[in-house]
Amino acid sequence: MTDGNAAAERRTALITGANRGIGRAVAAELYRRDLRVVVTARDADAAREAAAGIGPGVLWHALDVTDPDGVSRLGKELGPVDVLVSNAGVLLDGGTDALSVPLELVEETLRVNLLGSWRVTQEFIPPMVERGWGRVVLISSGTTAEFGGALFAGAPGYSLSKSALNGLTTLLASQTAGSGVLVNAVNPGRVRTRMMPNQQTLPEDAARFIADVATLPADGPTGRFLTEKRGQG
Ligand SMILES: NC(=O)c1ccc[n+]([C@@H]2O[C@H](COP(=O)([O-])OP(=O)(O)OC[C@H]3O[C@@H](n4cnc5c(N)ncnc54)[C@H](OP(=O)(O)O)[C@@H]3O)[C@@H](O)[C@H]2O)c1
Repeated sequence: MTDGNAAAERRTALITGANRGIGRAVAAELYRRDLRVVVTARDADAAREAAAGIGPGVLWHALDVTDPDGVSRLGKELGPVDVLVSNAGVLLDGGTDALSVPLELVEETLRVNLLGSWRVTQEFIPPMVERGWGRVVLISSGTTAEFGGALFAGAPGYSLSKSALNGLTTLLASQTAGSGVLVNAVNPGRVRTRMMPNQQTLPEDAARFIADVATLPADGPTGRFLTEKRGQG
């Protein structure tokens, strides 16, 4: 799925948590598709190194999605973007359960996975609506409960954070309906990264599907939870 206009106008794509794993692979895939790419990472050196490794002309910025000032500063410095891939995420409570998980871990998980994504969408979606075009992809997970799924009990905070992210996707999609902005959540399936080191699928394979959703045509879906068909993650 590609948007013919994207190549003509050279859309700009911002990816959070793009120094490694799925985020970096998505940045590289969008660069291959000729978008102007902005790599962000909470460590500035890591962002710069990742951008340099992807190719000439890739922009980079330091961005911790839990830092409200940092997010609004980036919005001002960068101006509007056309594509936002909210990928930054943590899995802190694997192997616990709902009755015993330390709630500090749940709190930190929600701070990054839900509120961090929410914050970047609050910063970058309004200019998209104003300009009448935007593609927003929230990286969710197969551990969620909505859309016919079942909550994964072995990482309760993580699963709830991604369920809430799916809920946020539907809220943002209804608010932007008809504006030219499409907002979708994606389950990338299980992918071999630092978060899930024992998986078969490489980030580059998941990135192709995510990049498809990030470049949907004008009649593409919005408010949906789109699943990479390889499996659950
Ligand atoms: N791998 C899978 O099987 C799988 C399955 C379903 C969903 N996902 C989702 O895919 C996304 C990417 O995960 P991954 O598998 O690529 O894991 P990863 O290699 O652990 O990457 C996570 C990325 O998020 C960044 N990050 C964490 N907290 C941040 C913050 N406060 N601000 C900005 N960046 C932050 C990390 O930066 P640092 O390097 O600074 O820590 C890193 O770049 C996550 O949302 C994850 O939940 C992954």
